[in-house]
Amino acid sequence: MNVHDSEKIAGIFAESGHVESTGKGDADMIVLNTCSIREKAEHKFYSDLGRLKKAKANNPNLKIAVAGCIAQQEGENLFKRFPYIDFVFGPNNIDSLQDLIAGGSLPATLNRQHSIFIDVNTEYPSMILPVKRAGGVRAWVSIMYGCDNFCAYCVVPYTRGRERSRPSTDIYKEAESLAAEGFKEINLLGQNVNSYGKKLDEDLDFPDLLYKLHEIEGIERIRFVTSHPKDFSEKLIIAMRDLPKVCKHMHLPVQAGSDKVLALMNRKYTYNKYKEKIDLLMNNLPEIAITTDIIVGFPGETDEDFRLTMKALSEIEYDGIFAFKYSKRPGTKALELSDHVDEDKKSARLSEVQRLQENITYNKNKLLEGRTVEILVEGASNADKGKLTGRTTTNKIVNYYGGSSDIGNLINVKILDAKMHSLYGEKT
Ligand code: 5AD
Ligand code: SF4
Repeated sequence: MNVHDSEKIAGIFAESGHVESTGKGDADMIVLNTCSIREKAEHKFYSDLGRLKKAKANNPNLKIAVAGCIAQQEGENLFKRFPYIDFVFGPNNIDSLQDLIAGGSLPATLNRQHSIFIDVNTEYPSMILPVKRAGGVRAWVSIMYGCDNFCAYCVVPYTRGRERSRPSTDIYKEAESLAAEGFKEINLLGQNVNSYGKKLDEDLDFPDLLYKLHEIEGIERIRFVTSHPKDFSEKLIIAMRDLPKVCKHMHLPVQAGSDKVLALMNRKYTYNKYKEKIDLLMNNLPEIAITTDIIVGFPGETDEDFRLTMKALSEIEYDGIFAFKYSKRPGTKALELSDHVDEDKKSARLSEVQRLQENITYNKNKLLEGRTVEILVEGASNADKGKLTGRTTTNKIVNYYGGSSDIGNLINVKILDAKMHSLYGEKT
């Protein structure tokens, strides 16, 4: 979500005739697009910001903007603590940048030294902002903004505001123009895509949107993130089964294996309910890859609760996971809970989860050796120099030797060697 917001910020700059700096101190303006999902991301921002103080001292004309979730959360405080910041705008106010950079100076209407845009912006979901996308094969497309779920640990409903869906015709037009530009894959973005359409005047839900986008010629693949298990429907499984362009990968965050912890987290499902949905998915789509998010050390998580998370991982055998130590976030309900888990225990639990999953992922990847799979070729591999890289429909990375004319094409590759994070193959 944040990466795509940065593409919108870059799009506004590009549209107004600005070019990217070389990164060697020649920028006229620097925008820090921040994330506050966990403490670590916040720390990174504050240390980057500290370095910019010097840059501003060397070049007083340099404009510094802070965007994203920390901007939304901290607002005016940022100016107080760091007076060298010029602009602050939240994730629902990216459009304000268009006015701010017009003419290269502050707009006359803003008769203040510092400008801030963090108010509720009800227009935002129907705005069409320019986007400067990286690469030419896969594109992120926002389908909804904000979140109404209020998971007890999560800052997103406070920073990104209430859930709002984009009109389906806007999404369709954007996807059509991406196809015309040569993009082959769209990745639909929302905090909870399964509740797409709820507050729209139109009568359509997320599976309906998939059927609609599936018609677009030139778009070969459709992915989406993220699904909330409580809203995950059989209708979606049927759409995934019947629509060949919809990739056979589901990211379904479970967060924890203990019902007590899930209730404290306000996730609104039990582990058994979650598992039933996984079984339904696997029965209908036997080739599907499933990934998840895990939080260890949520307040109140005992050793016994943690064992249930380990048990869930062994039972479901995900293709991959993102695991995090619980991190305290300002304004969230989890702060008020008792029995916070100490840092050492969180670290030990995180390592244990990761060790278990590494084995599972590796063994699953090994099963692909000798098999021929279809990949969408994205470009040169950064990690594996000299090779091209692409992904299977199940979102596994495959590197192979090929020519640049493969880029953007679906090709078949025989898997010769499977590693933890990627597969090596040969074009067939
Ligand atoms: N601490 C740790 N992990 C968190 N996540 C969200 N908030 C927190 C937090 N306070 C994780 C969840 C979510 C993913 C995007 O980030 O697992 O699914
Ligand atoms: Fe955060 Fe929960 Fe919303 Fe995801 S569904 S963004 S974890 S509040």
